[in-house]
Formats: sequence, C-alpha cells, structure tokens
Amino acid sequence: MQVVTTVAEMRRLRAQMTGSVGLVPTMGYLHEGHLSLVRRARADNQHLVVTIFVNPTQFGPQEDYQRYPRDPERDLRLLEQEGTDTVFMPGVEEMYPQGFDAWVEVGESLTGRLEGASRPGHLRGVTTVVAKLFNVVQAQRAYFGQKDGQQLAVLRRMVADLNMGVEVVAVPTVREPDGLAMSSRNAYLSPEERRAASVLWRSLCRAREIFDGGERRAEVIRGEMRDVLASEPLARVEYVSVADGETLAELETVDRAALVSLAVRIGGTRLIDNVTVAG
Ligand code: PAF
Repeated sequence: MQVVTTVAEMRRLRAQMTGSVGLVPTMGYLHEGHLSLVRRARADNQHLVVTIFVNPTQFGPQEDYQRYPRDPERDLRLLEQEGTDTVFMPGVEEMYPQGFDAWVEVGESLTGRLEGASRPGHLRGVTTVVAKLFNVVQAQRAYFGQKDGQQLAVLRRMVADLNMGVEVVAVPTVREPDGLAMSSRNAYLSPEERRAASVLWRSLCRAREIFDGGERRAEVIRGEMRDVLASEPLARVEYVSVADGETLAELETVDRAALVSLAVRIGGTRLIDNVTVAG
C-alpha cells in the first residue's frame, strides 16, 4: 500500500494504473461503514484509492472541525488489511493553498434544504473537495454511503451537470445492533447519549412501518416520526423530512421514491440518518 500526501505524487501513481480505479473519499476515523465502501470498491475495481482528509470547508465556524476524531495510524492499518493500493492523505495546505478561491456549488433547490438549511456552506464544501478529489484521482467509480442521503443526491447532480466521467455508487448504511447508523461522530456520545441515540432508527422504523401499512400522507408519517423522537428526553429534533428521493422537495403524498430523513441532536452531538421508501 502506498501512502501519498501531495497531488503531484497521487497523479504520478494514477498515471501508472491500468484498468478501473475505484475511489473512496473519507474523512478518516474509519468504522465498518467506511470499510463496507472500501470492500465494495475493492471488489469492483482493479485499483483502489482511499482518501483521508478532514475537509475544513465543509464545517461551519461553530462546528466540530478541530475536535473531529482522527486516528490516521489505525486507519492505515485497516486500509492495508482491506487490500487498498493507494491512500491519498493530503494536508490542508495541499488541498487549499494560499489564494485558493474556486468553488463547486449545486443550486439551492437541492442544497437549500435539510442539511443545507441547517449547515450553511456545508454542501458547497463537500462538492468542492469531492470535485477536486475526482480531478486528482480520475477514478471510474466513486463510493459514498447512503447515510448521507442528501450528499449523495447533490453529488449525483454535480457529476451529471458538470459531465464528470465518474460513476457514483451508493452503498447501504451499516448499523450497530440497535440500529444506530455507524458514524465517526458516534464517538462523541456519552454512554447515556449512546443509548438514547437509537431513537433515530426507531423513528425511521416507525415511518417505514406505517408506510408499509399503506399510509401515504407525508405529514402523517412526519408526525409519527416526531412522536417517537419526543419519547426520548435527550433528543432535540432539527428536522424530519419525507421528500422526493431525487429533487428532495418535501412531499404531500408519497407517490414516488422518497427519502425519509432526520437530523437530531443528542446532547451536543448532531446525528443524521435516513431510509428510502419506494412510493
Ligand atoms: O462523507 C464524507 O465523509 C465527506 O463528506 C466526504 C465525502 C469524504 C467529503 O469530505
């Protein structure tokens, strides 16, 4: 496994690769969710490139950039075990040198809601860094977790509208035994908060249960989800959404593929999760 930190080194290694290249962009502190992306990319491609970069531009000024968990040595051990060929782990100066001032942005109709509304600038930071990684690595396929459902929809829009020749592959969310979606931020939870955090999954299960029972009124589904969340005193709801799976516009009636998503604070930790329903 080769570990490189500069764009020039990454480009040099890329030039030597023949056959398909799979890219897994990460912010490190890897868990089973990341490893499922890595395994899928490993199985699909001749070459596997994983990037580790805690991207400052996708964090707001009051967010957790400084304290975001980091453990590069452990990450590299795990990636080696998974048969990764190349790890690109640039520093901030390498990705955002002095004078950096070009941004990749998807329009408000997709980015002005949900995460985009709660975290101004976050999605612009994601699209900019992912576009840069696509340009540097020139992969045939790139792998992202379904847990960040809006990120996935926004990246698909970027790739389609800017004619980026990369296939975006969505990989199902990996969950803890109680349903909590794997996330690096779960490390922030105290034992009591960790127990409370399973309420996100219970809320999503309730949505799916009544949908499977024939309920199609989106407001009723949102209401049932809120009721479940209200049963957990440590949970503070940021949003509950039942939206068109592609445009992310809130639905009145679930008559098409929909993204059922939520953002909830448990203590000081902001967690997101989602399920899709067929409509
Ligand atoms: O999903 C993430 O971990 C990040 O948003 C990504 C795609 C690696 C960009 O920094």
